Amino acid sequence: MMRLVHEVLGEASSACTGLDVGTGLGDFIAYASAYRVGQSCWVGLDSAWPVLQCARRARDARHWPLLLGAGQRLPCADECFDVVTVAQTLHHLAPPEAVRLLGECARVARRGVVVVDLARGYLGLAGAWLLTRLTSRNPLTRADGVQSVRRAYTPSEALALARQAGWVGARVHQRGPIRYALVWRRA
Ligand SMILES: C[S@@+](CC[C@H](N)C(=O)[O-])C[C@H]1O[C@@H](n2cnc3c(N)ncnc32)[C@H](O)[C@@H]1O
Repeated sequence: MMRLVHEVLGEASSACTGLDVGTGLGDFIAYASAYRVGQSCWVGLDSAWPVLQCARRARDARHWPLLLGAGQRLPCADECFDVVTVAQTLHHLAPPEAVRLLGECARVARRGVVVVDLARGYLGLAGAWLLTRLTSRNPLTRADGVQSVRRAYTPSEALALARQAGWVGARVHQRGPIRYALVWRRA
């Protein structure tokens, strides 16, 4: 994901602003900060208040702003972040909502958007089934892992959603059998 973010940012990598939509505990922002995308300044947005409360506790000494909001209605001005990232979140949304979220991400991104998510498929289902059984005894975690892959889009479905959202020149990359990345750069 970081390589794609650098690709979207181009020369702006050294001093960028980013919005991470569906930020969860902020793992991606922590990673981006550790790998220093220049003097980057990131904001995390999530629609779940309890998740943001956990994120606030988890971010320890490194502080970045957190926003409560839905990706389908971003409380931000047009083109106010260099880059917008969306990790493992698109599969939570039905197609009309996913199109809205992708449209909003493009609206607020000055340079581009990077989406990474699970790809639906038999290998992904088998992998999620096996991985959740190897790493957890919790029946909820086990069911959720498999359910997430079931709900996920295939790379070509994700590309079709991006086109519906008005992303001209969007590209999709399959990342191994269970993931894809969707990338859009503003022309
Ligand atoms: C599977 S977690 C991924 C968290 C993080 N991006 C990661 O990769 O670790 C999905 C997150 O998206 C959030 N979410 C789901 N729908 C959303 C929406 N419409 N707008 C913003 N956040 C949303 C959930 O609350 C959850 O924290």
